[in-house]
Amino acid sequence: MMGLEMDQLAKIKANPICKIYCKKTTTGKNKNALCEINYLVVDEEYRRRGIAQKLFDYVLCNNSFESVSLEVRSNNDSAINFYLKNGFKVVSKRERYYGNIDGLLMVKEMM
Ligand SMILES: CC(C)(COP(=O)(O)OP(=O)(O)OC[C@H]1O[C@@H](n2cnc3c(N)ncnc32)[C@H](O)[C@@H]1OP(=O)(O)O)[C@@H](O)C(=O)NCCC(=O)NCCS
Repeated sequence: MMGLEMDQLAKIKANPICKIYCKKTTTGKNKNALCEINYLVVDEEYRRRGIAQKLFDYVLCNNSFESVSLEVRSNNDSAINFYLKNGFKVVSKRERYYGNIDGLLMVKEMM
């Protein structure tokens, strides 16, 4: 977040530039919560500054999840790279789940 101009800071105060929605369940075999990431987005203007990484680290640091999962379009290279960098693995593929585009189920085991 370093190096932002005043008008950028004002915009951030009015509209969050990053959002994450997670669904937490308690059905893990070790009785710890499983987490599904339903939505993760950073405003286009602020991408590649480590903001998604900080948000993601914050969520993981403040919860003890057994695993974290999500589904992503197979052509979404930026998101796939982000999750691979964070230790997720592709565990299955849903053919043409998004029209002509496959869906990839990615999971990170935490324990
Ligand atoms: C995916 C997304 C959330 C990443 O946000 P971001 O704040 O730009 O990501 P970060 O700056 O924290 O990037 C962390 C790492 O992810 C990877 N990454 C992120 N964007 C990337 C891109 N466009 N191309 C390649 N790798 C990328 C890189 O490894 C990066 O580390 P590096 O910058 O040191 O190389 C953002 O691109 C976005 O909002 N995309 C649209 C919404 C979306 O597709 N959400 C995911 C749906 S499941």
